Amino acid sequence: MTSALFSICAIFACLASGSAEDCLDCGVEYDRSYIPDGQPGFVNCPLCYKLDIDGDVHYNFTWSKNGSTAHVTSERHARIYVDGSKMKFIPARLEDSGYYQCVVWNSTKCFKKLVEVKVFQNDDGLCYNWSSSFRQRGHVKSDEKVVCPVLSNYVDENRVQMRWYKECKLLNTISSRFQAVGFELTIQNMTKGDEGNYTCETTYEYDGKLYNLSRTIDWNVIVSKEKKPAVITYPRNNSIEVEIGFQVSLVCSASHKGEEDVPLFWIVNDMYADNYDTSRVVTGLPFDTILEDGTALKTVYLNISEVKKEDYENKFACVLQSTTVPAIEFLFIKHPAPNFQGGLIAIFVTLALVIIIAVLTYKVFKVDIVLWHRQSCLYHHSSKEDGKIYDAYVMFPKSRNTKSIYSVDTFVLKVLPEVLEKQCGYKLFIFGRDELPGEAIADVVDKTISESRRLIIILAGIKSSNDFFEDAFEQQIALYDSLISNKFKAILIELEKIADYTNMPESIKYIKQKQGVVRWKGNFTDSSLLPNTRFWKNVRYRMPPVRDLSSQTLHSKLILPCESLGIKVA
Ligand SMILES: *[C@@H]1O[C@H](CO)[C@@H](O)[C@H](O)[C@H]1NC(C)=O
Ligand SMILES: *[C@@H]1O[C@H](CO)[C@@H](O)[C@H](O)[C@H]1NC(C)=O
Ligand SMILES: *[C@@H]1O[C@H](CO)[C@@H](O)[C@H](O)[C@H]1NC(C)=O
Ligand SMILES: *[C@@H]1O[C@H](CO)[C@@H](O)[C@H](O)[C@H]1NC(C)=O
Ligand SMILES: *[C@@H]1O[C@H](CO)[C@@H](O)[C@H](O)[C@H]1NC(C)=O
Ligand SMILES: *[C@@H]1O[C@H](CO)[C@@H](O)[C@H](O)[C@H]1NC(C)=O
Ligand SMILES: *[C@@H]1O[C@H](CO)[C@@H](O)[C@H](O)[C@H]1NC(C)=O
Ligand SMILES: *[C@@H]1O[C@H](CO)[C@@H](O)[C@H](O)[C@H]1NC(C)=O
Ligand SMILES: *[C@@H]1O[C@H](CO)[C@@H](O)[C@H](O)[C@H]1NC(C)=O
Repeated sequence: MTSALFSICAIFACLASGSAEDCLDCGVEYDRSYIPDGQPGFVNCPLCYKLDIDGDVHYNFTWSKNGSTAHVTSERHARIYVDGSKMKFIPARLEDSGYYQCVVWNSTKCFKKLVEVKVFQNDDGLCYNWSSSFRQRGHVKSDEKVVCPVLSNYVDENRVQMRWYKECKLLNTISSRFQAVGFELTIQNMTKGDEGNYTCETTYEYDGKLYNLSRTIDWNVIVSKEKKPAVITYPRNNSIEVEIGFQVSLVCSASHKGEEDVPLFWIVNDMYADNYDTSRVVTGLPFDTILEDGTALKTVYLNISEVKKEDYENKFACVLQSTTVPAIEFLFIKHPAPNFQGGLIAIFVTLALVIIIAVLTYKVFKVDIVLWHRQSCLYHHSSKEDGKIYDAYVMFPKSRNTKSIYSVDTFVLKVLPEVLEKQCGYKLFIFGRDELPGEAIADVVDKTISESRRLIIILAGIKSSNDFFEDAFEQQIALYDSLISNKFKAILIELEKIADYTNMPESIKYIKQKQGVVRWKGNFTDSSLLPNTRFWKNVRYRMPPVRDLSSQTLHSKLILPCESLGIKVA
């Protein structure tokens, strides 16, 4: 120790003043050194920020207790000794507490600074002194690390074995939530219950003696209030439909959790809604609604008392002026689109109904309509010459062996001509009445049929295909012409009810299936001779339109009732 003291004196002698008092005084270090009583403690020479010093390589360090001229020895076996820039207490004792001066010097420069060393005892009954503990904190639910502080000068972190205590009780750091690695204690899934005073401890060996090194951390667990930054939940650039003149409430909502300040307001065309059109537009103050899960819903209204045309162009925007996630969302007011769909459906339904009714009407009144049309001024029948002489060729059974034959003759020779020829103006060819004597039957039939527009077949008293027509040949030719060459239409008239057509020739069956039959239900009274009965209308409907009336030789009085009677029914 004397040699060290001597050397300092020798150096200082070289300096201008020649003593330690001439060293630059850097005052007292604010950072105290706390050392648990009985434990090793290393005190670093405090730096003087007034000097530009890089490391201890170029300097000598001299330690001494304040007020003492005696320097701390560098003898390594002493309890207190200087090791480079450090002063080491192995171990520290309570009475070591106090100020120590560190003098840093080289041949040209020198400074000195005081540092306070505090050797403390544990609190009563505890393994730590709380007022000398370190403060650390972590968050609930996360994995946190409690760090054993300032031990790197003493032990190698990679090899150190730390014992951890919580409130002086040893922690199980094997297969538990606590893991000790190096200077760190990792606590998984931190809970509020993990709060407390943690003491880390390891063993320090020096000169064959074992010492305890311990630090205590006052560990606080922060239960942070769950925070969710505010977001506008409505509108999200939506649009609403409002008619002109109506009132509307635009609502804007932002949800958030734990945010102190959520400025939410409406702007119209980039100006505060409050200043927009105060006569119509009013905005309220935002208000919070707290939902069950703790989320707050901030809502602000923009009420328009009367929507005007300009509102459809206005840009209504809700602004969230949050510092975390600022946002702007638009809400457009739109004119309601006319309901095309409903109208279209109505139109289609109406159309369908009209069509159905028209079709039904036509089905029911087809005959009347056609007859009415024929004689109406709308109908201009082309009296183009088709080379035909007769409107119809009348074919009927001539068999005399049926009891109804009298009726057939009456019908064919009296009734038919009376109505169709006299009253309606048709010209008929009735075989047996109109053929000229001496003509060959086949010639007559062939010629006359080609000169006729229709073929009227009278069905009555038919028992079998054989007695259908006496002149089978003549009839078959006519039928053949009628059906196969399809030159003209056939009109089947049943004079009596024929239940069974199985015996009929194929050609008759074919006509019946294709064109149906007209059934004579009347007797031979005067009323059956009126052309406006259903029977005659059906026949007339199947007949061609009456030819040019003026060319007919018939009396006009007789024709007119026939044509005009058709109108009444419609
Ligand atoms: C250091 O010692 C000197 C001389 O004894 C004294 O005047 C001074 O107050 C002491 N400084 C501190 C911080 O105790
Ligand atoms: C002493 O320290 C000062 C400051 O770092 C440096 O400028 C100077 O060169 C040193 N003197 C010697 C002799 O090393
Ligand atoms: C420190 O002191 C020793 C002798 O006491 C001296 O030999 C050495 O040069 C000094 N170092 C510096 C950097 O001044
Ligand atoms: C705890 O340490 C402080 C200094 O940090 C000291 O003043 C106090 O006396 C110590 N407590 C005990 C019980 O020693
Ligand atoms: C964390 O701890 C809480 C309470 O002890 C528990 O409900 C939760 O399931 C734990 N989570 C994980 C990931 O271990
Ligand atoms: C640490 O211990 C002190 C005194 O023993 C106590 O007041 C403090 O609450 C403890 N710290 C924690 C985080 O429990
Ligand atoms: C070190 O601490 C342990 C427990 O904390 C104790 O049993 C032991 O006696 C202490 N050793 C010394 C040298 O103080
Ligand atoms: C709405 O429009 C604004 C501005 O254009 C845009 O920043 C925002 O992301 C839009 N929001 C949505 C939900 O699309
Ligand atoms: C706006 O309208 C809403 C609902 O229509 C109503 O609750 C609110 O009080 C109105 N705000 C203002 C400022 O008139």
